[in-house]
Amino acid sequence: MTLRTVAATALTLLAFSGAAVAQNAPAQPAPAALPAMAAAAPAVLANSCNSCHGVDGKGLANSKVPAINGRPAAELVTVLKAFKADQVTVTIMNRLAKGYTDAEIDLIAAHFAAIR
Ligand code: HEC
Repeated sequence: MTLRTVAATALTLLAFSGAAVAQNAPAQPAPAALPAMAAAAPAVLANSCNSCHGVDGKGLANSKVPAINGRPAAELVTVLKAFKADQVTVTIMNRLAKGYTDAEIDLIAAHFAAIR
């Protein structure tokens, strides 16, 4: 095997493994599916809030956890970012708010603000 053959074989193998990797890559969603996913995202993000704040953030019977639906989005954003930055210290929300990016907080706030 000449040096040139070795190099050619290596290149062929590389090209081949590259193709295999490409084939094993997870299927990309069709572009048409993306708007639907984006629309669902705020509701999905908000699901974790519902366990304490009730379905749709409307509060739970016999719970002291406040309802958070129907409040102005800007107000919810301000409160959540204050929790996140420890500007207001409460029992649980400081830790929870840190789990969301500011962009996610904006989406979650708009989601609950729109629920009457
Ligand atoms: C483990 C229970 C729990 C979860 C989950 C939870 N919260 Fe809270 N939330 C509370 C409690 C309790 C309070 C009262 C403040 C405190 O003690 O932390 C509160 C307070 C709030 C307040 C302030 C309401 C007011 O009138 O002062 C907002 C806004 C809020 N939560 C939004 C959210 C959002 C949005 C989520 C989801 C990302 C969420 N919470 C998830 C328990 C929870």
